Amino acid sequence: PWSEGRARAVIEEFSHLEGPLMPMLHAVQETFGHVPDAIVPMLAELLNISRAEVHGVVTFYHDFRHEPAGRHVLKLCRAEACQAAGGDALADHAEHRLGCKLGETTADGRVTVEPIYCLGLCATAPSAMLDGRIVARLTERRLDALIAEAQS
Ligand code: FES
Repeated sequence: PWSEGRARAVIEEFSHLEGPLMPMLHAVQETFGHVPDAIVPMLAELLNISRAEVHGVVTFYHDFRHEPAGRHVLKLCRAEACQAAGGDALADHAEHRLGCKLGETTADGRVTVEPIYCLGLCATAPSAMLDGRIVARLTERRLDALIAEAQS
């Protein structure tokens, strides 16, 4: 669980690095499952930069989550090759099926669906990832199966 003391210990481990902000943010996300707003002033103070600067970095990178994720995380590749291979329709389908938008978590807290920008599998696009497991050549049917698995 989040505590300021714990957060401080996590980020201070990286303070010897040059350019420590990204490693700190990744460590925070790994520890707490997301990057809570409360970390922003702490990082700003520690690194002697403005809060706006920290906030800008957190919001710029899609990797950082602002709220705790659902029990399962489904990532849909939204980069070019996957888009060209029908990724838009698959994303619409997932949103419709789950009843939430990309970047959100279902009301029951079971599934978070997120965009990801290239999984390095463009040759077998479209691609997705469920809880770290990569799925290539995604079709509507396979997507339905993934969603069913995540919801079970
Ligand atoms: Fe989707 Fe590369 S664009 S895997």
